[in-house]
Amino acid sequence: MDFELSREQKLIQKMIREFTENEIAPITAETDRTSTYPAETIDKLFDCGVMGMAVPKEYGGAGADLLSAAICVEEISKQCASTGDIVATHNGLCCAPILENGTEEQKKKYLPMLTQGHKVGAFALTESNAGSDASKGTTTARLEGDKYILNGSKIFITNGYVAEVFVVFAMTDPSKGTKGISAFIVEKDFPGFSVGKHEEKLGLHGSPTAEIVFTDCEVPKENLLGQEGKGFRIAMATLDGGRIGIAAQALGIAEGAMQEAINFTKTREQFGRPIAKFQNTQFELANMHVGIEAGRLLCYKAAAIKNTGARVTLDAATAKLFCSELAMKVTTKAVQMHGGYGYTKDYPVERMMRDAKITEIYEGTSEIQRVVISGNIL
Ligand code: CAA
Repeated sequence: MDFELSREQKLIQKMIREFTENEIAPITAETDRTSTYPAETIDKLFDCGVMGMAVPKEYGGAGADLLSAAICVEEISKQCASTGDIVATHNGLCCAPILENGTEEQKKKYLPMLTQGHKVGAFALTESNAGSDASKGTTTARLEGDKYILNGSKIFITNGYVAEVFVVFAMTDPSKGTKGISAFIVEKDFPGFSVGKHEEKLGLHGSPTAEIVFTDCEVPKENLLGQEGKGFRIAMATLDGGRIGIAAQALGIAEGAMQEAINFTKTREQFGRPIAKFQNTQFELANMHVGIEAGRLLCYKAAAIKNTGARVTLDAATAKLFCSELAMKVTTKAVQMHGGYGYTKDYPVERMMRDAKITEIYEGTSEIQRVVISGNIL
């Protein structure tokens, strides 16, 4: 067991830390205030190889390992959780399933678009009546000649109104339950594809969330991802990887909030001294530090296991559950330590607390993570 990052991982960490401090931190508050998709930042992240960074070089990616990819999401999310979400979704939920399940033709066509081509990717599983119970979607795909015809809609799709390539799940045989679900690669320009409602959310204001709608949407037969009926397994295995991205995002949010709490309590004076001199503050900061160290180990461990190609269901759910609950605890405490200031938009902890909440919900709620964990240990 080696707790040191490799030389390459340290270089990537340094590069992304400098990038986020210089390019992301200055615009985070404005991105949140105006609910603006950070298009320029995402273009720069494409240029420096972070979008699709774990895609092998032969398909246009940086060929980085999955721990490096998690470190990037962690570092980005320290400064801007919205940007972290866009990156984590693109990498973990769109590039990864195409890389892991695609034919050679699909990989050659779509992965260069998602790396060099500056096209953002998304993952469309959730429906209005199929959230935690993900297999109950009613979107259908009917084979007609050389095309599948998709009908239905998906909600809460991260990157929904900016993405150009979607991994979509639809029922090809409703009588077969989870074995009747298939996965497809869908482009936004396919006939019958449209974007529906844009969501207004509590947090992650820079992350574009939308409904997507299929009305007799024509998807070429060759865009079936994996085999017919294997879609649910693909969705679940993809979410195993995606959950590591959310753990990294939550970890980054917690780290950012702890740093804000340290900065504030060292300068804020009450009762004649900086509040960092009070033992209650010190103990709370110590608790944050312990949680963050533990969360980082769980997150990095899951990423390292996934990188070996081994199944990571239990470790990913464990890391995601721990880090998302940690992010909520740390950001809430950080707001408390700021007192009234923490409740205003003058301090970033207010945004961080709003951003943290979703990490306990998306890519499987904390309750679903407990279902997965208990199912794996019993
Ligand atoms: N890897 C591979 N296969 C898996 C798997 C995994 N991690 N988990 C389950 N499977 C397989 C099972 O082996 C089983 O296959 P067999 O029938 O061949 O044995 C099949 O899938 C069905 O498994 P279950 O019976 O366990 O399925 P279930 O219907 O009981 O559901 C669940 C299990 C864990 C509750 C699952 O539905 C789940 O994870 N729900 C949460 C969904 C979720 O995370 N949604 C997030 C949407 S995406 C998002 O949030 C991103 C965004 O853009 C906002």
